[in-house]
Amino acid sequence: MPENTVYKGKVLVAGATGRTGQWVVKRLQHYGIPVRVFSREREKALRLFGESVEIFTGKIQSSVDIAHAVKGCEAVISALGSSSVTGESSPGDVDRDGVIRLADEAARVGVKKFGLVSSMAVTRWYHPLNLFAGVLLKKWEAEEHVRKVFSTGGRSYTIVRPGGLQDGEPLHHKLHVDVGDRLWSGWINRSDVAELLVEALWLEKAKNKTFEVINESEELQASLEHCYDTIS
Ligand SMILES: NC(=O)c1ccc[n+]([C@@H]2O[C@H](COP(=O)([O-])OP(=O)(O)OC[C@H]3O[C@@H](n4cnc5c(N)ncnc54)[C@H](OP(=O)(O)O)[C@@H]3O)[C@@H](O)[C@H]2O)c1
Repeated sequence: MPENTVYKGKVLVAGATGRTGQWVVKRLQHYGIPVRVFSREREKALRLFGESVEIFTGKIQSSVDIAHAVKGCEAVISALGSSSVTGESSPGDVDRDGVIRLADEAARVGVKKFGLVSSMAVTRWYHPLNLFAGVLLKKWEAEEHVRKVFSTGGRSYTIVRPGGLQDGEPLHHKLHVDVGDRLWSGWINRSDVAELLVEALWLEKAKNKTFEVINESEELQASLEHCYDTIS
């Protein structure tokens, strides 16, 4: 692991065992940043990450479990995502209430930064994806809460609203960013979403930003820092 020169402090990754979350862990480790993962399934986290990260097991429905996990971390990155219409993996439980609980407990113990994977089209109540238990609306409610809680008290947030997610290596695309939820289609690698949130940890210009992002063209990138230049 390289020496950590870019960001001091431990980062808790929620949803770390997911496809984007795994990339968040990899990119944090690439920069030598200490990682703690919060997972509902210890064996899965162990299988994926071995001993290279701290593993805190718990339920996103439990404030007690979350409070334990966030304690001692400087930042939290959430790549949580629902996978069923009802029950404990539903949009209401995960995308809204899980993220809200995470933000509240993090702020309470002094976490300074919150990074969130949201989605393009979260402001569009009429979007067909809302047929899946109102998933976009739930994400929007969580976003609003994160913006409220993490824009005061020396805290900050960065919310990434990706287009369709695909797999592939990071830093292989020039990205197109926009604000105001005006994009209708486009794809982006999960690894680049992760990279954007990891770089946001140390970039002043990434503070308190919410933005949409998709691929523009295939082109190797040295970093994604410049994506934050055009976001107002
Ligand atoms: N798919 C797209 O095209 C697209 C587009 C825009 C935005 N997004 C959003 O981007 C985010 C990341 O997507 P992804 O494809 O990386 O998601 P993913 O692979 O499905 O990962 C989701 C993560 O959430 C966790 N999770 C789900 N239910 C949970 C629960 N009840 N308690 C605790 N953890 C729970 C999963 O844990 P386990 O590993 O334990 O299951 C996993 O770590 C999601 O919020 C998704 O909605 C997706």
